[in-house]
Amino acid sequence: MVELALPKNSVVKTGKTHAKPEGGKRVKAFKIYRYEPEEGKNPRIDTFHIDLDDCGPMVLDALIKIKSETDSTLTFRRSCREGICGSCSMNIDGQNTLACTKAIEDVSGTVTVYPLPHMSVIKDLVVDFTQFWAQYESIEPWLQTYTNNPAKERLQSVEDREELDGLYECILCACCSTACPSYWWNSDKYLGPAVLLQAYRWIADSRDEATGDRLDDLEDPFKLYRCHTIMNCTNTCPKGLNPAKAIAEIKKLMVERQL
Ligand code: SF4
Ligand code: SF4
Ligand code: FES
Repeated sequence: MVELALPKNSVVKTGKTHAKPEGGKRVKAFKIYRYEPEEGKNPRIDTFHIDLDDCGPMVLDALIKIKSETDSTLTFRRSCREGICGSCSMNIDGQNTLACTKAIEDVSGTVTVYPLPHMSVIKDLVVDFTQFWAQYESIEPWLQTYTNNPAKERLQSVEDREELDGLYECILCACCSTACPSYWWNSDKYLGPAVLLQAYRWIADSRDEATGDRLDDLEDPFKLYRCHTIMNCTNTCPKGLNPAKAIAEIKKLMVERQL
């Protein structure tokens, strides 16, 4: 008989519950995933309480307050606190998003905070982006030209520049890729929505002259065609972008160049 068992240390246990702030009138509970792989213990969920009248409005404000005042070992990435750097991506209230742009008041009841799904956890809310960055590097995300350099810069019409709207704004937070079931199951071979949106950003750039090479590189049963238009990526993007559309545009170009 087949015996099925969860991998060692995969069961998430109930952790510590920290005291409520005294005298707080608007106290909100935060349940936060904690994991220190080197400890050899199971992950746990710790509960913290925040007085919303004594905290900034975003989930990142609450995490910083908890780290500053209650538990300095709580570990997470952040930098810009403006939705620009992409560092603070995590799963809040069941959705991948940015902690710095997610308002606490938009979560009814307890705020649950987990790391991005299907990524190796380095510590608490910090996940390993090594493979994600390697995939990004693989699409050669820079302008490539073969013709002689013009005397000044390579110009672009207003209309051609507008083709990059909805693409250049991507901050590589990986909220989309880590919400994509195809990426969960094939992240070693499928590039995922974030990297494919970036690939299309260069394909769509009128100044880039490597379009054929870029499409050749994506013509692969796994790199591109694992997208099954499930749309989780577009639904979760905290910047309001549409990676599924970018992927569809690449697929369209693949067909058009065969006609
Ligand atoms: S497309 Fe959106 S969700 Fe995906 S990496 Fe870019 S900004 Fe993040
Ligand atoms: S549309 Fe494609 S990339 Fe987006 S979630 Fe679905 S399978 Fe993944
Ligand atoms: S801290 Fe930079 S995007 Fe959140």
